[in-house]
Amino acid sequence: MLARITANEPAISGVLVPPADKSISHRALLFALLAEGTSRLEHLSTAHDVGATARMIELFGASVTGGGAETRITSPGLWGLREAADVVDMENSGTGVRLGIGVATLVPGITVFTGDTSLRQRPMARVLGPLRQLEASIWGRGGDAMLPVVVRGGKLKSGTVDLRIASAQVKSALLLAGLGIDGPVHVTEPVLTRPHTEELLELAGVALEESYTADGAHRVTIRGPAQPSPLTYSIPGDPSAAAFFVVAAAVIPEANLRVDGVYLGPTRSGFLDVLGTMGAAIERGDSDLVVEGTRLSGTVVQGLAIPSLIDEIPILCVGAAFAEGTSAFRDAGELRVKESDRIEATARLLEAFGVGVETFDDGLVVHGGLRPGSLRGKRRCISARLDHRIAMAAAILGLIAGGVTDIEGIETVATSYPGFFDDLRRLGSATVEIGEFDERDRP
Ligand code: S3P
Repeated sequence: MLARITANEPAISGVLVPPADKSISHRALLFALLAEGTSRLEHLSTAHDVGATARMIELFGASVTGGGAETRITSPGLWGLREAADVVDMENSGTGVRLGIGVATLVPGITVFTGDTSLRQRPMARVLGPLRQLEASIWGRGGDAMLPVVVRGGKLKSGTVDLRIASAQVKSALLLAGLGIDGPVHVTEPVLTRPHTEELLELAGVALEESYTADGAHRVTIRGPAQPSPLTYSIPGDPSAAAFFVVAAAVIPEANLRVDGVYLGPTRSGFLDVLGTMGAAIERGDSDLVVEGTRLSGTVVQGLAIPSLIDEIPILCVGAAFAEGTSAFRDAGELRVKESDRIEATARLLEAFGVGVETFDDGLVVHGGLRPGSLRGKRRCISARLDHRIAMAAAILGLIAGGVTDIEGIETVATSYPGFFDDLRRLGSATVEIGEFDERDRP
């Protein structure tokens, strides 16, 4: 399916209530599976990725009812998990499958995981290797590299795992597996990554010990066996979804956007710090933002800041295209193994709008200077490359730059933000048409 964004005078204003956070929604479902009894989740994400996790927990023995304002999950809990009667298809969800692999070590019998074309190409050794250090029985295609992955549940050994990649997914898989282990599991990550698993473990009554080393590494210890208690929890708004509209408002002159009910913990709001450094006019409350348009200047983003904004780099590059001067995003090689190779995909997207870009193994340099509305009368066609964040970055770039932007493969947006184009229509000045267009009518 194709979206055609037609923009003349770029403008954005209004109030955005972002969709429920995807990272937290996956975890809340998994905690509901591991708790015995009924958990109640308010505003669970309706993203397709989260739907795949909901189907996984049903296969492991939970029942999921309701939806919208309240989803109820009833489960036999950690000690009553059931062997899945079918292959567990996690579709496009990297977080769902990597956390799910950790949970599958707790499930009696075998679990076979697969996913869509994009997920089957993404690296799984990063989660298989550390779980094997705890003696998990686990195998993957291509020498334990990729899906399909097979897990045989059973008792793992307590131990210490030092992660070289800063990955909240891998840390979470280990902590979830640790719930079933007799004794401590210590996990060290190079820098604190999004701590949603830790936050929910504590809410569910499972104690953790946490500390930091002198060089900023984060160490967390879980002492199993421990069954989480059922949760009643309201999922906050997704900062990674809000980021698309925040960047648009930050660079469009006269823009005025309010964002309500968004999670703004430090491990998720690195993009706001970067926009602040670039000169953006953003007022931050505890869970709300007010953004006004202004002229940004280029910046350098690298090192330990990267994990707190890794998902926002494509849209930050869009912001950088409208900044004065050059911006660099380095130490971000992880972008190459997301839903698409996001270094390549972002570079091709910016080039389609005439923006100068250099790519490196670990990031990009963006030459700014594009003016909002300056590409009126121009047309271009972008492929979403099976990547929701590339599709949304393309739509926002089209809105700000002006002209006609066709984006092919926009179904992928539902992976994280099913209402994105509705919000774009409501907040932005562009015309948004969705459908199949005649080949002859393509830019
Ligand atoms: C996520 C962690 C990050 C992030 C992904 C969601 C999570 O991935 O990019 O979108 O919910 O734990 P990594 O763990 O691979 O860094």
